[in-house]
Formats: sequence, structure tokens, C-alpha cells
Amino acid sequence: METGFTVEQLRTAATDAVRAPSLHNSQPWRFRLRDGGIEVLLDRERRLPATDPSGWGARIACGAALFNLRLALAVAGTPATVRLRPYPTEPDVLARLVPDVPRRPTPTEQMLYGVIPHRFSNRAPFWPDPVPADVRWRLGEAARAEQGWLEMVIGVSAVNAFAEVARSANRVLERDPAYRAELAEWVRSAPASDGVPAAAGGPLGEPQDLLPSRGFGGRSRAPGRDFEPEPLVAVLGTAGNTTTDQVVAGQALQRVLLTATDAGLGVSMMSQPIEVPGAREALRLSLGRFGTPQMVMRIGYGQPGSPTPRRSVDEVLDVPVGQA
Ligand SMILES: Cc1cc2nc3c(=O)[nH]c(=O)nc-3n(C[C@H](O)[C@H](O)[C@H](O)COP(=O)(O)O)c2cc1C
Repeated sequence: METGFTVEQLRTAATDAVRAPSLHNSQPWRFRLRDGGIEVLLDRERRLPATDPSGWGARIACGAALFNLRLALAVAGTPATVRLRPYPTEPDVLARLVPDVPRRPTPTEQMLYGVIPHRFSNRAPFWPDPVPADVRWRLGEAARAEQGWLEMVIGVSAVNAFAEVARSANRVLERDPAYRAELAEWVRSAPASDGVPAAAGGPLGEPQDLLPSRGFGGRSRAPGRDFEPEPLVAVLGTAGNTTTDQVVAGQALQRVLLTATDAGLGVSMMSQPIEVPGAREALRLSLGRFGTPQMVMRIGYGQPGSPTPRRSVDEVLDVPVGQA
């Protein structure tokens, strides 16, 4: 009797997993089949030492990839039971998935899976149309379904206070030559299978902008094409901040992003205030709630974003000899 996942199932699901977002599109993940289980590993070779010294961002990205993997398996009728950080002595194995009882996918799983190829970061200005309350509620539910929380920053003064924290975090990062050099290394002007192509990097930041942007080397904006004056800013967090919590946060992030995509929303991520410890603490205190902020998002309606490339699945699979 077949008791484990097959290489073919791994390969198919990994094709969806790699569509997950990652810091500078660094794609810090590997997938392998071991004893019939699919495992998600953090790839230390692809960590960003200056931007992400603790590995928080790599674990968020792997958590997001894990969420896509779970969806792909469920939609194929072979859902998985997941154990996070299954081996205490192998901290880079972030998750192990073993087959659960086969069943039909739920409508929510089908919906979330269906929008995986249509989710891109959208760093352009959004239209002024507000995001309705029921859609905001859906986004919060998406985070809660994955053991995360989502707080909207509501009101002009709260948004301005957040923006001040975010801009000052960005200034702290930009003063660091190693951070600037690392960012420049991941901006792509020629076709590549990783990094951020200029076309997807969003417009160049300008002095009047409320929120900071990562300098991915985009184009200047046409006059008057400014960012929305009162953006919808949402903070995603988890109860704690262990390495396991960060993998949980990645899954919750991906569920929020896919739910937003299904609702026709664009999202850009903004992690400067998470990367600078003082800013992260200021953000946590300003929200007045327990737990740890793990990601900030700007959400709104706008022109669709453009896709970024991914490495081929063969580059991220570790398959037992003789099964490739
Ligand atoms: C942990 C993490 C942090 C990120 N931080 C930022 C950020 O500060 N600014 C930004 O524009 N994009 C940020 N992103 C988005 C990535 O740049 C983006 O996911 C990657 O380039 C792939 O593009 P895609 O999201 O369109 O697939 C972040 C993504 C992750 C997972």
C-alpha cells in the first residue's frame, strides 16, 4: 500500500510553492522527499546577511511557500498533515508534510489555489477607492485562519504616526553600506531567474512620499501621479516571535495575499519597520496589542502588478538518487 508522497506529487506542488514572495525575490527555499514526507528547508546559501541577519525574512518566505504547497496538495485531493520544525537538531527543516486522509478540496482551498499565479507585489500608487469593510474583514479572517492577526492602521493621525516610524526605519537601513550593496545586488536590469526586475520594482521614491519604498531602481512617476494620501496599511503579526512563529506568519501572510488577490486588491509589502528592532517595537506599542508584528502591507485597488521570475523547480528539489 502507498503510504507516502511521490516525487511527482512533490514536483507538481513545488511548482506552485515557488510562486511565494520573498525578500528581494531571493527564493530561500528547498524541497525534498524523505521517508514519504515532503519537507520544506531554508536554504542558507540564499539568505540576505545584511538585510535579514536573523533569518526572519527567509522563514517568512518559506512559510508562504509552505502555504502554497499545502494548497496544491489539498486541491489535488491529497491533503497533508504538517509538522513545523520537526527535528530539533535540524533547524533548517522548517516543515514536514505527510499524507492525510484523501478528500475533496474545499471551495476556499480551490479559490486560494486558483489565484496563486495572479498574485504579484504591486508597488504602484493605488486608486483612491476605499477597501470596503467586508473585504477588510475577509483579510482579517484569512490571517486568523492561519493563527496570525491583522491590524488595520485606521485614521489619518495613526497612518501618519506609522509613516514616521517606517521612514525613520528606512533611513536607518539606508545608512548601512552593506544593506545598500545587498539591495543593489538583487536589482536586475537583464533577464534572470531571481531578484527584482526594474519593471516590477515600482516607481522611484520621491521626497513627498508618505511611505518609504525599497530602492529597486524603478522609473520616475509622471507629474501628479502620487501615492494615495491615506493608504490602507495593515500589520500582520503572530502571538510570539520564535522561529516557528515566523513560519506561521509566512503561511498567514500568503493566505492574506491570496485572499486580497481574489478580492481584486493589489498589495505591496513594506518590511523596513520590521527589520529595524527599535521601529518594530514602536510599531508593536502603537498597535496596543499582544504579539509581534511580522509584516506590513499597503493594500488598495489599482492597475495589476507585473510578475517576477522564479528559478526552475529542478533547482529547488532534493530528490533521492534514482527517483529524479
Ligand atoms: C519577508 C519579506 C519582506 C519583503 N519586504 C519588502 C519591502 O520592504 N518592500 C517591497 O517593495 N517588497 C518587499 N517584499 C516583496 C518582495 O520583494 C517580493 O515578494 C519579491 O520581489 C517577489 O515578487 P512578487 O511578490 O511579485 O512575487 C518582501 C517580501 C517578503 C517575503
